Amino acid sequence: MKIFLDTAEVADIRKYAAWGVIDGVTTNPSLIAKSGRVFEEVIEEICSIVDGPISAEVTSVETEGMVEEGTRLAGIHENVVIKVPLIPTGLAATKALAAKGIKTNVTLCFSATQALLAAKAGATMVSPFIGRLDDLGERGMALIEDIVRTFRNYPTLKTEVLVASIRNTDHVRQAALLGADISTIPPKIMDKMVGHHMTDKGLAAFLADWETRATGAPTS
Ligand code: G3P
Repeated sequence: MKIFLDTAEVADIRKYAAWGVIDGVTTNPSLIAKSGRVFEEVIEEICSIVDGPISAEVTSVETEGMVEEGTRLAGIHENVVIKVPLIPTGLAATKALAAKGIKTNVTLCFSATQALLAAKAGATMVSPFIGRLDDLGERGMALIEDIVRTFRNYPTLKTEVLVASIRNTDHVRQAALLGADISTIPPKIMDKMVGHHMTDKGLAAFLADWETRATGAPTS
């Protein structure tokens, strides 16, 4: 499973890219606004840090505007993927962007039938938001299972399943077990994934024992 970072904070992106585990980055208008930086500049900087798909979301809601904005954003770098909302005009924009050879990430997906439409429209990736479904008392992971199974039934559908709105490490574990193509992970969950108290305890014991070793130096 590919791991994308779900953030527009370049310091975080540098930090986790140094671990050698980051395959791409996703942003959205909320994350860009939170960064307090100019949209195009952040996307360009992220592209210089991570050599993989970098999602930049359009803010138009009409097909023509989305295609225009998407074409402009795709010009920033060859790795930019245009994030388009899963609405009727977004599907038409996905189709038009695909015809221009521009990759898309169809976002705000909350049902398997929405995902099927995104795939039919030619989406490169589709982003089901599992945490927001869990918040409603639904099972976000059941949606991932439905979409993964549906796409497997029709090998001509090449759209990748990008698990988004991840809230905990178990979401990542289950996404991988289900065979999702990508998980986009917020920085704080990356820290939870790498950390384990038994690792810390074991390392502390190894280092303490190392201090008591015989050094071979003369004792008197
Ligand atoms: O980038 C989209 C996404 O992952 C949103 O997550 O936590 O705002 O539901 P969240």
